[in-house]
Amino acid sequence: MQLKSRHLLGLEGMPREEIELILDTAASLKPILERPIPKVPTLRGKTIANLFYEPSTRTRFSFELAEKRLSADSVSFSQAGSSVSKGETLKDTVRNLHAMKIDTVVIRHGASGAPHFLAGCLDASVVNAGDGTHEHPTQALLDMMTLREKLGKIEGLKVAIVGDILHSRVARSNIHGLSTAGASVGLCGPATLMPAGVNDLPVRVYRNLDEALEDADVFIVLRIQMERQKRGMFPSLREYRSLFGMTVERLEPLKKEITILHPGPINRGVELDDEVADGRHSVILDQVTNGVAVRMAVLYLLSGGRGKIEMEDHAQA
Ligand code: CP
Repeated sequence: MQLKSRHLLGLEGMPREEIELILDTAASLKPILERPIPKVPTLRGKTIANLFYEPSTRTRFSFELAEKRLSADSVSFSQAGSSVSKGETLKDTVRNLHAMKIDTVVIRHGASGAPHFLAGCLDASVVNAGDGTHEHPTQALLDMMTLREKLGKIEGLKVAIVGDILHSRVARSNIHGLSTAGASVGLCGPATLMPAGVNDLPVRVYRNLDEALEDADVFIVLRIQMERQKRGMFPSLREYRSLFGMTVERLEPLKKEITILHPGPINRGVELDDEVADGRHSVILDQVTNGVAVRMAVLYLLSGGRGKIEMEDHAQA
């Protein structure tokens, strides 16, 4: 089986079998990362450009590592230090890179829809590495891979997404991806940080965090995105922590096992206490490891790969 589109722009509308294809492929590629020489020739001859118009640690490094593990040639670009600072447009930047024979463009951009715009004016495959407040599909895919590894399935899980839903592209991709994969999704956060039209989404809205903790098994805790807030949307970080923080005091009395994810970077002491971020419920560093495998799978499948791979197909580079 192959992906129908040559782009990965978002999870909204992606069929369940394509999500499962990516997750199965990522699981089959992950053992490569444990080899003494973690490199295979699968994308030899392909050229990938990573365009990061916004800061990133996890997404950028894991795309770059995924490309190296698959033997692609890759070049990376950040807004600072490029001709964007001289006023060059996104379209001109990418058309120039494309003239150097690029097969795939990975883009993170502050404008929602920037990857869709590029997909409409380039022959190359486009991968959305996070666009504005719209989607971050590979983050949701690595979250789903982590849940499948830890809990064995996604179907039937009750997942609560907690925090700044309004500004979160991670929330949007997870709402679409998890619902399609058979989980039931709930949202929990300040009313001012809920998106307009939340009632049209396939989610329930919890009245407060205690209700969510009673109902859900899995918690995707979001970062408060101070940089995207144009005005104060809650009174103080201290009040936010007391109402929506995953604190030691809140979790200690729980009589059930829960799983906590966070896309990073964490505001420690705000949405997560140190002891929770680094404690037994947390799978945050597993998410980071799986980010490399998921991005390898996406790049492989978009380049025409046919899905789940047996290890003998991945001889050492
Ligand atoms: N999760 C995530 O997108 O992290 P970065 O901003 O560090 O890439």
